[in-house]
Amino acid sequence: MHSLPPGMWRTSRWLRLYDWDWKQHPFPGLTQAAIDYRATTYPRRFFYHVLRVCSTGDDRADGVEYSAGVHDLLAACFEPTSFDDLVAGEVGRRHGADAVSGAVADLIERGFVVPVDADEPVDTAAVAAASELYAAIQVRQEFAAALDVVKEVEPRTVLEVGTAFGGTLFGWAQVAHPDARLVSVDLPGGIGGGGYMPEHESHFRNFCGAGQQLSCVLGASQLPDTIERVRAALDGAAVDMMLIDGDHSYEGVSRDFANYRSLAREGGLILFHDIQPPPPKTEQPMGVWRFWREIREDYRHLEIVHDPTQFSAGIGVLYV
Ligand SMILES: C[S@@+](CC[C@H](N)C(=O)[O-])C[C@H]1O[C@@H](n2cnc3c(N)ncnc32)[C@H](O)[C@@H]1O
Repeated sequence: MHSLPPGMWRTSRWLRLYDWDWKQHPFPGLTQAAIDYRATTYPRRFFYHVLRVCSTGDDRADGVEYSAGVHDLLAACFEPTSFDDLVAGEVGRRHGADAVSGAVADLIERGFVVPVDADEPVDTAAVAAASELYAAIQVRQEFAAALDVVKEVEPRTVLEVGTAFGGTLFGWAQVAHPDARLVSVDLPGGIGGGGYMPEHESHFRNFCGAGQQLSCVLGASQLPDTIERVRAALDGAAVDMMLIDGDHSYEGVSRDFANYRSLAREGGLILFHDIQPPPPKTEQPMGVWRFWREIREDYRHLEIVHDPTQFSAGIGVLYV
């Protein structure tokens, strides 16, 4: 019989319950190769540890085989708990006290469960790296720098217009307040990513911590009905941080700014993606860069551009 450490413990913030079948529920805009890669990288019904691997570089975490007992133990630790209570309760009854006790030391050693008040600082470089596994349409260095800016604010309310496969939404969830409310707006089949389907909401929920709430509003961002649904999802809360990354035409981005600007709190952040001019002969209308140049001087602002000669990408931050 192993001795169980005293005190209250919880699952590390770098582990989340992962339960998603990429092949059953493909994203409209993701290639088959991209879907296959993700389907084989992330087994269903196990804890995913992408962030743990990215933040510690500990690829032992990558090869962990989770037995049913370990899975139940980690799930139970999403609520702060003592190991004694776990052994005495449902988990202990199901798997036996010895099995649970044996798993505990390993989980602690790996940092998968931590003391309840453990300081686990957010590693934005790791978050940006992990966001690529969720197919973020970003320059990694720019996204890491934007995450640093957003982390400072630790937003309680986040609005994202243009989510696509969820890469940026994943990032915001990691740096937002543990009790944050996140709202995503996207148009299924929309240009510039292809959007997502209603069933993807449960996949995105895997990104969020236990205290965070996610609402997905599907529809064209400019429509009054969509704006009304966003308002309802916010339930009166002012937005601390907003990303506008949906319709990239000049008219589209102008209207999104006009429609959603008033939802931001005073002193809040509004981020734009693609503030750099597009390459010549781009087929899709790309007018964010033009809109950004008009609007930026009216506000305190910041430009995050990895390479000033690059076409497209670049993140603009307005302090509104
Ligand atoms: C460039 S992607 C977003 C990328 C995501 N933020 C990221 O960095 O990973 C743009 C998304 O905006 C959506 N979109 C395009 N037009 C839209 C509209 N009028 N309303 C809402 N979403 C729109 C597209 O469906 C697409 O998923």
